[in-house]
Amino acid sequence: MATHVITGAGSGIGAAVARRLHARGDDLVLHARSAGRAKELAAEFPGARTLVGDLADPDRLSWAFSHQSLPEQVDSLLHIAGVVELGRVGELTPKTWRHQLDVNLIAPAELTRHFLPQLRASRGHVIFVNSGAGLNAHAEWSAYAASKHGLKALADSLRHEEHAAGVRVTSVYPGRTASPMQAKVHRQEGKDYDPGRWIDPESVATTVVMALDLPRDAEVNDLTVRPGRP
Ligand SMILES: NC(=O)c1ccc[n+]([C@@H]2O[C@H](COP(=O)([O-])OP(=O)(O)OC[C@H]3O[C@@H](n4cnc5c(N)ncnc54)[C@H](OP(=O)(O)O)[C@@H]3O)[C@@H](O)[C@H]2O)c1
Repeated sequence: MATHVITGAGSGIGAAVARRLHARGDDLVLHARSAGRAKELAAEFPGARTLVGDLADPDRLSWAFSHQSLPEQVDSLLHIAGVVELGRVGELTPKTWRHQLDVNLIAPAELTRHFLPQLRASRGHVIFVNSGAGLNAHAEWSAYAASKHGLKALADSLRHEEHAAGVRVTSVYPGRTASPMQAKVHRQEGKDYDPGRWIDPESVATTVVMALDLPRDAEVNDLTVRPGRP
């Protein structure tokens, strides 16, 4: 049975992915920002293990993990957690920049570093849920887009480094997806939020699971997912 380490399993896209993998009986190790959040995830996904560490403080992840038992087997590491804060370059403070870079870029690098030995041993798979903003940066999206452009670089370098070890690396670039994050973006943009206009998190989950389940002779490197016209 495959073991998946998942960040962001408590909401939106991550929750949809976790539900799919849980329903088919895979082993889940769900990352949570706090012990309280981990308890909620364990109740929601019976049988799942949890791993606690605040992605907003990547310097302390190593210390936090040293006090918990890490899974011995990891077949996939799914980086799905993320944060967004819109704002013009003239207004964004270093604190806002750092928070997005920490959660969206540096924490995934640190988590990857931690689990690479297990991923190499299992010839495993690392999936990064990126964003359309990881490919194009628009007005008021600078800090988030920079973190996601950085995440693309992390994924591309990792793929070159670990391909020979049999580790597969996939970046998924969703467009606007109906989740609490998208509701917040609409509030910041001063627009009404209609979830029906945007991608269902279940559809992004389908692309993630498809990449995971692809036979080993092939690897999806990059997958762009845009809102359709239902
Ligand atoms: N929604 C979109 O339109 C969209 C489009 C393109 C890409 N994406 C990307 O897709 C991914 C998932 O987004 P979503 O829309 O599903 O967002 P979401 O519903 O807001 O979920 C974000 C998840 O990240 C976790 N998280 C945030 N800060 C954390 C921290 N400091 N430590 C640990 N976990 C933390 C949250 O944990 P809690 O559950 O504890 O709050 C939550 O589970 C993100 O990487 C996002 O950038 C989203």
